[in-house]
Amino acid sequence: MTAAVDNRWDGLIVGAALATLDAEAGYGAIEDGALGWHDGRLVFVGPRAALADTPDVVAKQVVDAGGGWITPGLVDCHTHLVFAGDRAGEFEQRLQGASYEQIARAGGGIVSSVRATRAASEDELLAQSLPRARALLADGVTTIEIKSGYGLDYDNERKMLRVARRIGEVLGVGVRTTFLGAHALPPEFSGNADGYIDAVCAWLPRLHDEGLVDAVDAFCERIGFDAAQTRRVFDAARALGLPVKLHADQLSDGHGAALVAGFDGLSADHVEHTSPEGVRAMAEHGTVAVLLPGAFHVLRETKLPPLDAFRAHQVPMAVATDCNPGTSPLQSLRLAMSLACTHFKLTPEEALRGATVHGARALGLRDRGVLRMGARADFVHWAIARPAELCYWLGGALAQSIFVGGQRLA
Ligand code: NIG
Ligand code: FE
Repeated sequence: MTAAVDNRWDGLIVGAALATLDAEAGYGAIEDGALGWHDGRLVFVGPRAALADTPDVVAKQVVDAGGGWITPGLVDCHTHLVFAGDRAGEFEQRLQGASYEQIARAGGGIVSSVRATRAASEDELLAQSLPRARALLADGVTTIEIKSGYGLDYDNERKMLRVARRIGEVLGVGVRTTFLGAHALPPEFSGNADGYIDAVCAWLPRLHDEGLVDAVDAFCERIGFDAAQTRRVFDAARALGLPVKLHADQLSDGHGAALVAGFDGLSADHVEHTSPEGVRAMAEHGTVAVLLPGAFHVLRETKLPPLDAFRAHQVPMAVATDCNPGTSPLQSLRLAMSLACTHFKLTPEEALRGATVHGARALGLRDRGVLRMGARADFVHWAIARPAELCYWLGGALAQSIFVGGQRLA
């Protein structure tokens, strides 16, 4: 006797418009759409009327959305959300006139989060970090990139990366980990940045062996690491076949964008001070510009990234939260999209593309960020009448339901 084959789809949602983003430009809108999924993948994306052409459509679960819009699940491609403690005191210092660089040089900044993160056990770190990941998820994020960089020694970088993986397991969201050992110089290597980079390069293969590293990043800046040190970290990544990305040209033009593009990097992030040559190099190598308007806003930055040059050279622009305790304590990617519109004059469509298709690309992921047959069934149903509302509302509970790999998470 053969078992009956159950060929029903796992789910079908109708009664909402779709912003598929599956087009070179525009939302790829489908009014009165239908979305079917099976085994974690999309098996139907189209107008509801076209369902009639699909013989024997039966789904185990049929949902009538009753209006609103469905978009791909949002992809937050740049966060530092695993850390202990907070830096609200530095926020107050900056309001009194101290600059981010001054605070960092005086022993605060990243290094103060390092102290708190080292002192926390793995479970404590998870407990402190989970609410931030939950907040991102509640506002529509289904894939989160999480960097290390507040451990700055082998055990604590490993602890951070393990916590990042555990967040993915606990919440069911997609997590991509990035090793950011070259984030700041820990006190025990004071005066010996090159020695510290030797250590970072030695830790990387061990962390990679444990399956803890999906990509490698560095902070190339006056208060971070120089170009030669950054290159050494990237050479170590390349030797393992790991993709690279870079905190580039955030506070000054250190030619970071061109450097990371030269390694065929996935992305150059921040990029406020990136030069025209840097933009050209990014275009040539397909390196995504990751815009981080939360840090721009919090630091009251005035230097805008070269947005028109990115557009002119067709450099894809992603938008991310940069969720971190210093420059961007931001727990909503939608709010980052809104800030990108207000500060950087992105159109709401560019902002949504930046938080979906281009965010996925900045992580080297081609299976998400778009509603398309065969893509992961990561999508969000929003209570909105038009997609621009995703950027228009500051806060608010717009997400009605959130699916990751076909499973409803919220
Ligand atoms: O992306 N610029 C370096 N890294 C973070 C800030 C980290 C921190 O201040 O804790 C950023 O802005
Ligand atoms: Fe960052």
